[in-house]
Amino acid sequence: MWICGVSPIRKSEIMKYRVLLLGSGGREHALAWKLAQGNRLEKLFIAPGNPGTATIGENVAIAATGFEALKRFTLEQKINLIVVGPEEPLVNGIADFFADDEATDKIPVIGPCKRGAQLEGSKDFAKNFMQRHGIPTARFRTVTAGTIAAGEQFLDELQAPYVLKADGLAAGKGVLIIHSRDEAKQQLRNMLQGMFGAASSKVVIEEFLQGIELSVFILTDGKNYKLLPEAKDYKRVGDNDTGTNTGGMGAVSPVPFATPGFLQKVEQQIIQPTIAGLQQEGITYKGFLFFGLMNVNGAPYVIEYNVRLGDPETEVVLPRLQSDLLDLFEGVAQQTLGTKTCAIAPATAVAVMCVSGGYPGTYGKGYPITGLQDVKGSTVFHAGTAQQQDTPVTAGGRVLAVTSLAESLPAAREKTYAAVAAIHFQDMYFRRDIGVDCLHEEDGRRDDFNKPQ
Ligand code: AMP
Ligand code: GLY
Repeated sequence: MWICGVSPIRKSEIMKYRVLLLGSGGREHALAWKLAQGNRLEKLFIAPGNPGTATIGENVAIAATGFEALKRFTLEQKINLIVVGPEEPLVNGIADFFADDEATDKIPVIGPCKRGAQLEGSKDFAKNFMQRHGIPTARFRTVTAGTIAAGEQFLDELQAPYVLKADGLAAGKGVLIIHSRDEAKQQLRNMLQGMFGAASSKVVIEEFLQGIELSVFILTDGKNYKLLPEAKDYKRVGDNDTGTNTGGMGAVSPVPFATPGFLQKVEQQIIQPTIAGLQQEGITYKGFLFFGLMNVNGAPYVIEYNVRLGDPETEVVLPRLQSDLLDLFEGVAQQTLGTKTCAIAPATAVAVMCVSGGYPGTYGKGYPITGLQDVKGSTVFHAGTAQQQDTPVTAGGRVLAVTSLAESLPAAREKTYAAVAAIHFQDMYFRRDIGVDCLHEEDGRRDDFNKPQ
């Protein structure tokens, strides 16, 4: 029987989405930008969003962790898909909150349940999960205030440098890499005594892995997964990887040393056992999963899991995605991801972060940003900006991510740096060497990325 003259099949073919996207950084601007490119989007809201997302959808002044307020909003606005950018709402259980909620008709959430989010929320949980499922990762020992002696004994077994990690979320700051064993023992005590608050009441000590880092991302419905483009993030503030760690100063995709053979090992030894392990443990995982990897002489090891996309990695991953992101999200929500196409452009993307001078330490805010209208052929994603009347101003450490897509790494670098040169604000700083280390490794492997999976 037809209802209102539309057959059920026809109706599902034209299913449109009223999406609520959570978060406020460059990653969320890139997600909004990509969602708006498809033809299935009826309306996009971003909570709380930023001036960049405001040019694409409607920003809503609700925090990404304000579950009750988000629920009221989803009911008012008839939202039928929630997409979560940052980890905090996931670790706090937003997917479970909506899955258990009859009033909102169990709106699908792109993001794992609270137990799945423990892969990022607890290093101890992640390491034990990997151990249970035979996933390659560095040797480790978890220490609490009551087991310091065992921790010190483990440090005695290891070679320098020593890796100490706060178990819980510590805003990307909870990892110490220390060269002297005595200092490592002292810092272990400091961490257990609250150096990172409750996050370091448990500490994971790890063997140091020597290799090259890269990040691999998947989107999964819990059973099927799609491999997204891999990326390399540049974490140190200074050129040639010098200075303090930051949230990320730039990114490139593809990564030349991620050869098809290496990526096959990643799928077989890491991605597939992770999905199988989640299923075996009855963990509902519908969303992005980010594998922080170390390539140790051609063998992949997991350094960390993140239960979301990376920032600025998203700003190079999504520009290479040719398929409709909303169609893929529908596959996640309905557990039909295996029927969807995930086509990746064989092009190279380079993103450079324009940051406030002083970042990741103290920096000024409220400086007018000029030149955005002169950027041609590149995309500028807002990360830490605010709008003052008609003028965008700086409002955070990482201010803008400038991304370009081109047929080669040199061409993508040239486009991005030309765009960065057009942009100005007081004390603006950026790394000049994003992608330089990959230049000599670039080869003809990119054709492999053109195949739909
Ligand atoms: P994480 O927050 O776990 O990603 O750690 C932050 C950074 O510390 C990583 O991006 C690596 O550069 C480094 N790191 C973490 N664990 C190890 C390890 N076991 N061996 C070598 N480097 C590591
Ligand atoms: N850029 C690293 C991260 O998003 O965790």
